[in-house]
Amino acid sequence: MSDTLTRRDLLRTGAVLAGAAAAGLSADPTASAQQAAAPRSAGGPLAIISGGKVAEITKAMDLLRAGGDPLDAAIEAVAMVEANPSDHTVGLGGLPNEDGVVELDASVMHGPTHKAGAVAALRNIRHPSRVAALVMRRTDHVLLVGDGALRFARAHGFPEEELLTDEARRIWLDWKERHSDDDDWLPPATAPAEDRSTTRPRGQSRVDWREAFTYGTVNCLALTASGDLGGVTTTSGLSYKIAGRVGDSPIIGAGLYVDNQIGAAGSTGRGEANLQNCSSFAIVELIGRGMSPEEACLAQLRRVAGRSERRLLDATGRPTFGLVYYAISKDGRFGAASITAGPEFTVHDGRTARVLESAGLYPKA
Ligand code: GLY
Repeated sequence: MSDTLTRRDLLRTGAVLAGAAAAGLSADPTASAQQAAAPRSAGGPLAIISGGKVAEITKAMDLLRAGGDPLDAAIEAVAMVEANPSDHTVGLGGLPNEDGVVELDASVMHGPTHKAGAVAALRNIRHPSRVAALVMRRTDHVLLVGDGALRFARAHGFPEEELLTDEARRIWLDWKERHSDDDDWLPPATAPAEDRSTTRPRGQSRVDWREAFTYGTVNCLALTASGDLGGVTTTSGLSYKIAGRVGDSPIIGAGLYVDNQIGAAGSTGRGEANLQNCSSFAIVELIGRGMSPEEACLAQLRRVAGRSERRLLDATGRPTFGLVYYAISKDGRFGAASITAGPEFTVHDGRTARVLESAGLYPKA
């Protein structure tokens, strides 16, 4: 493999070619995800996950093919990420709050029963999505937070552990020592080169710099062959957040929504934007009114951008924060869209896993 052609490039090109062929389109490797997502005559099985996550989406598809529940399939996919200490956006190894404590948010929604469960600001439990599923299945509630959520997890036998890995602690410490010149924390005289990524480069706005690594989240949506939907969103939330800050991920309608008659949607990125706009609910409603999943994601991004505060926009009025939506419809279409085109998502249609790039309100620079 040449230096300039990575495995991911090959995957993406292969994915687009496969999608184009399946849809009867010309084999153009620049074909958009929208083309690859041309309507299918039947529904699932179908699964979509944020990011380039082929192993995870394949796990979900294996469960769907074996006749599994769509929510269980989605949860098992994100559980792989929650357990991965190298991923600093969820679960074990997630980046902590400003005090150096990892606080996790997650929600699940099950189409056939229209039930939901969620946990917020949960500490010491690596699989918040599984706890959220138990809130849904084993309580009369939808959302448990903080110490109550931890006690509930303990009652169900979840092991407690320190989620702040050494690597995540070093990233947090680097942030703590560098984010302000107006306190008593000092970086080492000779900082290790790898830690410099968390330092705000001269001239880059605080918002841009934070966006680069702070709102990581995983969303997975699944559709069975018989048309049942399920979804999950899980995150360590905004890194270095004020302790107790809860984002959109555990809020049904904001970071996740499933309507078994229409479709499902979820999000990664700036949670506050989705809390203010009920974004996942809105996207599903737009699909219900006839939009394709990608059109619905773009329409909601347009709304959010148009309602954003001035301080979150650049000189041209374009949002400086990151926000990505993912959606599937009951009839087996899918789409993803971002403020700026490009963030990856992975889809499995029962035949093959494909890593694709999100559409965008704005093209890639
Ligand atoms: N979307 C993740 C968060 O804002 O917490």
